[in-house]
Amino acid sequence: MAPTFIGLMSGTSADAVDGVAVSFDNGAVNIQATQSDPISPSLRERITDIMRGRDDHLDAQAALDVDLSHAFADCAEKLIARLDALPQAIGCHGQTVRHRPEKGFTVQLGSGAFIATRTGVPTVTDFRSADIALGGQGAPLVPAFHQDLFGSDEEDRAIVNIGGIANVTLLPKDASVSGFDTGPGNTLLDYWYREHHEGDWDTDGAWSLTGKVDQALLKKLLSDKYFSQPAPKSTGLEYFSHEWLKGRLSGNEHPQDVQAMLRELTAATIADAITNRLAHARTVYLCGGGAQNKALKDAIRALLPNTDVTSTARLGIEPQWVEACAFAWLARQRLEGRPGNLPSVTGASRATVLGTLHQP
Ligand SMILES: Nc1ncnc2c1ncn2[C@@H]1O[C@H](COP(=O)(O)OP(=O)(O)O)[C@@H](O)[C@H]1O
Ligand SMILES: [Mg+2]
Repeated sequence: MAPTFIGLMSGTSADAVDGVAVSFDNGAVNIQATQSDPISPSLRERITDIMRGRDDHLDAQAALDVDLSHAFADCAEKLIARLDALPQAIGCHGQTVRHRPEKGFTVQLGSGAFIATRTGVPTVTDFRSADIALGGQGAPLVPAFHQDLFGSDEEDRAIVNIGGIANVTLLPKDASVSGFDTGPGNTLLDYWYREHHEGDWDTDGAWSLTGKVDQALLKKLLSDKYFSQPAPKSTGLEYFSHEWLKGRLSGNEHPQDVQAMLRELTAATIADAITNRLAHARTVYLCGGGAQNKALKDAIRALLPNTDVTSTARLGIEPQWVEACAFAWLARQRLEGRPGNLPSVTGASRATVLGTLHQP
């Protein structure tokens, strides 16, 4: 029987630790257990304070590292309790609090030593820095997994992960894979919603549908140099920040119109990536929390009229678990001494084994 791996993911939205216990058997993904542990508002505030540079002193960062290590270990232990045997390894992405590949660093919190010690399971962390050391972006890392599990000889397809930041993987049937961060996924939508409502996000994009898109303003946002920059490229919340948005608004807009425009911004940057680089894409498979945003999905569909826009559920993995599965897969790559990065995606000078292995 194929060995089981645990994947743990907490993305830039800092909404939850998502975990899966999964095995990979000849291209088949067999999910044995899933666990999503919401991140408490107070923990999320500490994460965003450090992300935004408001409280990034070493003591605050290290204390957060300890608390996140426990959150990751808690999630892993709940999964392990439902398995017949210990998994072979845990792959923990960690919590990104800074991503500056151009300066040679990216920072993910969550200690592999801690998680390995608490769970008794070898744990792989720090997946991104080896790629950055080779001159790469260190991101996105999910395309190698998408290619392995979702690649097709019969059709050009794209996988789009809509987290805080959105990224695409373009899988042409007869050419090499590419992929990059398209820009904001949910981050600005979440921020703007929270500025004007109680609650965490605009469920199904319903509020966004009450607004009208200001096309001139949308065009202004789309003129940001990131969107036309050639790949490889990756980005984070330090670039697509609250300030990035506020600096582009006059302050006289109706809040719901801004939400509608942000929905179109995410949709347009995703659709452009596909139209410009994989014009014959037959199917686009969405994953990540943004795949639950019905209005956003409809906006992407409207911009890609000749493409079937669906979710990864059709490929056998529910959208919420794709990234966690990717880090379980990357842990397996690490244990087998196989590369995890795709130089055509990240721009690294070569493929390499990713991650640091911590023994319990
Ligand atoms: N029903 C929904 N309607 C609209 N947005 C949703 C819904 N469910 C989840 N989301 C969005 O998905 C985000 C979480 O997505 P996730 O893939 O976990 O992102 P990340 O990888 O950045 O943590 C939430 O912050 C929210 O914006
Ligand atoms: Mg999340």
